[in-house]
Amino acid sequence: MPPIEGSYPVGMPGIIAHYRDYLPVTENTPLFSLGEGFTPLVHARWLGDELGLDHLYLKNEGQNPTGSFKDRGMVLAVAKAIEDNAEAIVCASTGNTAASAAAYGALAGMQVIVVIPRGNIAIGKLAQSLHYGAKVVAAAGNFDDALRLIREITERHKVTLVNSVNPMRLEGQKTGAFEVCDALRRAPDYLAIPVGNAGNISAYWAGFKQYRERGKVNGLPKMLGFEAAGSAPIVENRIIDHPETLATAIKIGNPASWDKAVAARDESGGVIESVTDEEIVDAYKLISRLEGIFCEPASAASVAGVIKMVRAGRLESSAHIVCVLTGSGLKDPDTAIARAAGVLETAATIDSVEAALGWAEAPEPVLAGAR
Ligand code: F0G
Repeated sequence: MPPIEGSYPVGMPGIIAHYRDYLPVTENTPLFSLGEGFTPLVHARWLGDELGLDHLYLKNEGQNPTGSFKDRGMVLAVAKAIEDNAEAIVCASTGNTAASAAAYGALAGMQVIVVIPRGNIAIGKLAQSLHYGAKVVAAAGNFDDALRLIREITERHKVTLVNSVNPMRLEGQKTGAFEVCDALRRAPDYLAIPVGNAGNISAYWAGFKQYRERGKVNGLPKMLGFEAAGSAPIVENRIIDHPETLATAIKIGNPASWDKAVAARDESGGVIESVTDEEIVDAYKLISRLEGIFCEPASAASVAGVIKMVRAGRLESSAHIVCVLTGSGLKDPDTAIARAAGVLETAATIDSVEAALGWAEAPEPVLAGAR
């Protein structure tokens, strides 16, 4: 591997360097990194107690450099683009892929163009993409329209596509499965994961299989994929023309990796099912309140699905279950605030603050709406 020419995180290997023997890297692939990967696998004791599960784990991918799991695949896709002397990278995105492409593209000194569904991406993701310096095109359509447009752009112009149809993306993302096995020193019994464009479930499955082939683990998990109920093409086995869900990250009606996800489900003996927005929001709130982990709504689909299966008696209490929390809650402050308890507004006096907290009698006059 050539030495790094640009900036790099000192003392952190990055996933390319750490898992190079498991990835399609060559002697020309740069050791490129923003410090992605090595995210915590949290043994969720409080949530586990609530659900009657002894070994429930949360893989907190929100702790990646741009706040989502996308960084694992993007670092490799962009490193390969550097190797190929690419000048521009492009993608369609519900927001996280865009933010990740914009960040790694900035580090690589490349032009980045992202096409997003107008009005349908969380504000934090848009802020990131713009600040990392990407050209952001907001098309008046949904994600599936954006992907169609970006595919046409790659046919007409000399640019590198970094959506998960780029095989390097899935190669990088499978390192999430390696880390789960490295932390548990075994494969989990179940791996629960949100499904949107269906790349991540396919990548994790490939990672688990590769780790078993190399003798790092003996078993394989059953893959549990969860789509949002209004955007569940795989569950309904038909393209959804107008997908709907508050979890905008997975608001996708025609996933690019559909067949791979179905293969992951069937080969592993798992399921792909759907969870409603209400179930997603309940799980989203529970994870932050019980475990101190603030994930984005789409991420909570993994936990929502596990909750649903546990309540139906479909998961054993002794099973090792890993839920992937794909992105940070800070990405989507609008949904967070809309679903949160209100703030206590008070006058700037100690009496008013204590009254608002219920620690003292209200002084006169109390501000309207203070309690
Ligand atoms: N969770 C989050 C937070 C996501 O951003 C995505 C996908 C998924 C889950 C689903 O993963 O597509 O591999 O099945 N976001 C893409 C994007 C589509 O453009 O950022 P998937």
